[in-house]
Amino acid sequence: MITFDREWPADSLLLDSLLDRAFGPDRTNKSSYSLRSASNALTDLSIMARLDGELVGSVQFWSISIVDMLSEYSLPAVLLGPLAIDPDLQGQGLGSELMRRALKMLDLGGYDRVLLVGDLEYYRRFGFERVMPRYISLPGRRDADRLLVRERKDSLKSLPIVGRLEIAPCVADADFAA
Ligand SMILES: CC(C)(COP(=O)(O)OP(=O)(O)OC[C@H]1O[C@@H](n2cnc3c(N)ncnc32)[C@H](O)[C@@H]1OP(=O)(O)O)[C@@H](O)C(=O)NCCC(=O)NCCS
Repeated sequence: MITFDREWPADSLLLDSLLDRAFGPDRTNKSSYSLRSASNALTDLSIMARLDGELVGSVQFWSISIVDMLSEYSLPAVLLGPLAIDPDLQGQGLGSELMRRALKMLDLGGYDRVLLVGDLEYYRRFGFERVMPRYISLPGRRDADRLLVRERKDSLKSLPIVGRLEIAPCVADADFAA
């Protein structure tokens, strides 16, 4: 039976192993990895899928800011990823289930914008669209064309036309909705 809960400190090695299986051992060379560090992981928001207790799926979140290059105004946001499903269980709807649960939680929590680096073909179904033609640079200046965003339509502030993505220090959830 598949169950869902959050990430716990004891999951660290199991999570590494799952990510290696899903993405391959060179996964840490991907640009999205350079955006993340343990200090800003929003572990309360993470969702782990377990099959009879074994970790088989995960989605994690990170605290980021989008800084307007003209005004230097800083907009809080959440970076989603990695989303990973054990190769033995891919294509059976588990990734979609994790995404649905994650986005519902973010919506209920009042998070206005979620960004990720990934394939539009997969994430479009969950309401993501390309950040381009707005240009948001990433640390290392890689993969900006794969940067996707899901913004609440009633959000008072939207992404700047030209900006940069920065790692934000860990903040309390209540401070994060904008
Ligand atoms: C991508 C991933 C998370 C999807 O989870 P999943 O449980 O396998 O996917 P689901 O069963 O929910 O959805 C399957 C659908 O997604 C599509 N899909 C899967 N990966 C895709 C991709 N990278 N681009 C476009 N479509 C994709 C499948 O073709 C299938 O389409 P269909 O519904 O029209 O048949 C999972 O396959 C995985 O972990 N892959 C390796 C790591 C990875 O690439 N992570 C995402 C980074 S972009």
